[in-house]
Amino acid sequence: MPTLPDLRLRTFAAYEAAYARAATDPNAFWAEVAEAFTWRKKWDTVLAGDFAAGHTTWFAGAELNLTENALDRHLATQPDKLAIIWEPNDPAAPGRTFTYQELHAEVCRAAAGLRALGVRKGDRVCLYLPMIPELAIAVLACARLGAVHSVVFAGFSATAIADRIQDAGVAWVITADGMRRGPKALPVKPTVDEALAHCPTVRAVVVVRHTAQETEMTAGRDHWWSDLQPTGLHEFTDLEAEPMGAEDPLFILYTSGSTGKPKGVVHTQAGYMVWAAYTFQNVFQVEPDDVHFCTADIGWVTGHTYGLYGPLVSGATTVLFEGIPTYPDAGRFWQIIERHAVSIFYTAPTAIRSLMTAPSELVRAHPMPSLRVIGSVGEPINEEAWHWYEQEVGHGRCPVVDTWWQTETGGTLISALAGVTPSRPAHAGLPLPGVQPVLLTPEGVEIQGNDVEGYLALRAPWPGILRTTWGNHERCFHTYFAPYPGYYFTGDGARRDENGLYRIIGRVDDVLNVSGHRFGTAEIENALNEHPEVAESAVVGFPHELKGQGIYAYIILRAGLPDDPAAHARLTLEITATVVRLIGPIARPDKVQLVPGLPKTRSGKIMRRILRKVAEGEHEHIGDVTTLLDPAVVAEIIAGRR
Ligand code: WT7
Repeated sequence: MPTLPDLRLRTFAAYEAAYARAATDPNAFWAEVAEAFTWRKKWDTVLAGDFAAGHTTWFAGAELNLTENALDRHLATQPDKLAIIWEPNDPAAPGRTFTYQELHAEVCRAAAGLRALGVRKGDRVCLYLPMIPELAIAVLACARLGAVHSVVFAGFSATAIADRIQDAGVAWVITADGMRRGPKALPVKPTVDEALAHCPTVRAVVVVRHTAQETEMTAGRDHWWSDLQPTGLHEFTDLEAEPMGAEDPLFILYTSGSTGKPKGVVHTQAGYMVWAAYTFQNVFQVEPDDVHFCTADIGWVTGHTYGLYGPLVSGATTVLFEGIPTYPDAGRFWQIIERHAVSIFYTAPTAIRSLMTAPSELVRAHPMPSLRVIGSVGEPINEEAWHWYEQEVGHGRCPVVDTWWQTETGGTLISALAGVTPSRPAHAGLPLPGVQPVLLTPEGVEIQGNDVEGYLALRAPWPGILRTTWGNHERCFHTYFAPYPGYYFTGDGARRDENGLYRIIGRVDDVLNVSGHRFGTAEIENALNEHPEVAESAVVGFPHELKGQGIYAYIILRAGLPDDPAAHARLTLEITATVVRLIGPIARPDKVQLVPGLPKTRSGKIMRRILRKVAEGEHEHIGDVTTLLDPAVVAEIIAGRR
């Protein structure tokens, strides 16, 4: 039996009734859902604030600690159930498991250790760790103390870490000596050291020993994780959780937008918890004995909500995987599913597309009888990948849920509820209760009816909506609420089919989705422009078979085009390396073209439409270029395309 009362809507009629009630009486609807959770003190108001100004509150006045919901409440009913199954990078290496009781004790010990170091409620803690159990434990330890966690994906560069630490005024950093990724063991701590040279607010660094590689420790600042933990295990198996206000921040997670600097999306305690558990149970139709495997790293929001918080608050078993889908071969996910009798599998289209191209014996060797529901997230899934996933992984007997959401939305907004609401290949489906999508014209007029396409926006707040962007609410308002007054603007384009099911088409702003990772074109341009020989750059996306979108960079050099091919090759490599150094290998441009000029209007605006056409190989259909300042440049760009 799950210790969280069942939040599932089991039939289409139940979904319809819940949807109608959440729309007409959100206060009563969400109060009823919230009754299922553990509170120190109940709320004064359910939904309040000013949605149009980007100020929404949920359950204001309530007090709780999320870890009492994720851990303590399960101790009475299922202390010995597995909370976390950790699968290491190397399939032959020993894994680790944690029952709810064990995880509770680990989190309490880590929290006690961090508190002894000086970590307090409201402090910001940056976590830069590979996918090892200590990452989950550290996240939960922060939540137990009321410290705000800011997890930075371990593929980001030192500069990216420093930016995030400075923006949030981080005082504490938790990291590891190194990480394993496929055949490689990579150092991690040196990247943190490099970042910290520019971060005077950081008081201490805690280092988990994982790969046992030689690691330099700065005396007085750096501590081993193992030394932190109080030795009197017994006394510290229960550390009193900090009572948190419903609207106190729980975490910051940085994400890219159309401007140069990533912003710190802020989620708070109560609304996020309710949304994570409600959507987790409903979308996947979670059963008490389910084993849930979300392949996303905890460095992304998917890992936060459906790798950790959603499953643990619901009392489920979650699988955390350190490695990559193709090591030692492209059968690794299927092997993990069989090894741990995974019943819910949740991954990204980019992984599906890459595994599809592997020899089919690799998937066919694994019948995976335990699988019940399979999900997709992070980018549009094309029909071919959807069908392969449904047939080869789900064997035609597992509902596929294509879940659309964003870092800012906290959890899924549009998706089929597995086996309950209608599903259609390459469509996310119907909105969850509490979610009111609309399609807008570029001018902001609502498009009525079905079989229509437009900009996707939300007309009402849901409990998991972002509350602000760290340190700068104006930016939050400007990005999400100002473009179309009265709506939350998603930045996505979508289509509503003849039955009202939504299909997400992709971003309509200057944001790229590369293998499910989000980058602003301006963010990559800023990095390119840091190269001393770059005068100007323009970045666009292009369709990429595996990544969904690839990154295409056009570069104007200060000294003009080099005529010598060796210089050309050297510069291209160096410019690419600059992006890797400043953002991380995940943002490496796929193509770099040195150009004599960029297509600009007479007012100096870059005509990205033209650059996109060239990058897509659609240069035959560029259309009218006569309004350009220098139309001749287009022919030169086409001639030199990569
Ligand atoms: C953007 C959000 C949601 C967690 C992972 C990504 C795209 C996300 C889908 C989907 C089509 C999707 C959108 C969205 N996206 N899920 N099921 N179908 N597109 O979170 O980094 O905040 O990116 O990812 O474009 O705006 P994120």
